[in-house]
Amino acid sequence: MSLQPHGGTLINRVDLSYNVSNIAKEVEIDGTALSDLELIAIGAYSPITGFLGEEDYNSVVHTMKLAGGQVWSIPITLPVSKEVASNLQIGEKIKLSKGGTVYGVLELTEKYTPDKMVEAENVYRTTELAHPGVKKLFSRPDVYLAGPVTLVKRPEKNKFSQFYLDPAATRAEFEKRGWKTIVGFQTRNPVHRAHEYIQKTALEIVDGLFLNPLVGETKADDIPADIRMDSYQVLLKNYYPADRVFLAVFPAAMRYAGPREAIFHAMVRKNYGCTHFIVGRDHAGVGNYYGTYDAQLIFRNFTSEELGITPLFFEHSFYCKKCGNMASTKTCPHDTEDRLILSGTKVREMLSNGIAPPPEFSRPEVVNVLIKGMKVGVQ
Ligand code: ADX
Repeated sequence: MSLQPHGGTLINRVDLSYNVSNIAKEVEIDGTALSDLELIAIGAYSPITGFLGEEDYNSVVHTMKLAGGQVWSIPITLPVSKEVASNLQIGEKIKLSKGGTVYGVLELTEKYTPDKMVEAENVYRTTELAHPGVKKLFSRPDVYLAGPVTLVKRPEKNKFSQFYLDPAATRAEFEKRGWKTIVGFQTRNPVHRAHEYIQKTALEIVDGLFLNPLVGETKADDIPADIRMDSYQVLLKNYYPADRVFLAVFPAAMRYAGPREAIFHAMVRKNYGCTHFIVGRDHAGVGNYYGTYDAQLIFRNFTSEELGITPLFFEHSFYCKKCGNMASTKTCPHDTEDRLILSGTKVREMLSNGIAPPPEFSRPEVVNVLIKGMKVGVQ
């Protein structure tokens, strides 16, 4: 039996033969909305079929559930300016375009003005504009459009097009491989030794690992997706059994919503066909906005039936010189000074200055790709 998507049905709202020529109204959308449009249409956001209406929106913001009761923690919204909204009538079809190209059609069911302070406080646990997710929230326009969508054209892929697989395709791949239990791994970073350790620890108890890096919009100082993609491939080639791991991208924007985003990431990976999902230290966090394990604690708000995917929680992992291997506070009795711990900021700074982090922190093959890629990137 194939795995149940969230809500029971894998949504498919892709229709590349859709004729948009008799639709007059057109709205320009931003990069986040375009990626959400595509992710809704391919079923990654099942059971969501369009941009959220006010009832669903309020329910998600306040209760982390859709009005229908399914777990959903991040509002999926389509913001436009007041001027644009005033020109649109409920009930009409609207072309959704970016850079003059039409990618989708929205059947407008509602337009409403959200309270963004409430959204920020609930979703991001802060209203500070220094938080990249909050900054983005407030920089987007003020009126939300809602209604079911149809994707009429696939957004262009970069050179890693072979790694863009829809949930139906990843499910088919897992089935083909005979995997019954699959652990999903979200990342917006290169895979360092700590990530490898928790992935492989999980891999000891499940059939396959779905390495699913996020490649949509990230903040400017995160390592660009194309450099990361090269680094994942070199890592898999050298250190992972090919028949136990599958790499495909997650083309969503990063929200940096920490705990709320961990729930969202888990629900989406369930749609891609995962049975398990890794949540480690400060998942999807930024700065000091969230406690180290808040993204694990938030799962306690839901029953395992409501989630329908099993989270696998990992403590902060590191290389311990005394143990002579990777470990976590659960397995290593030694002191902090015996442990090799580098912050993400420190590692990015080292890499962009051409300095290799030690092999106990990151595989040399990975480091080579990152240093080369970042050199090209800054030229
Ligand atoms: S993010 O997508 O969650 O923002 P990141 O790549 O930093 O990106 O982390 C991917 C996953 O690995 C997350 O579940 C995170 O909690 C976990 N993780 C990252 N570093 C560590 C670490 N040193 N120990 C344990 N878990 C970690």
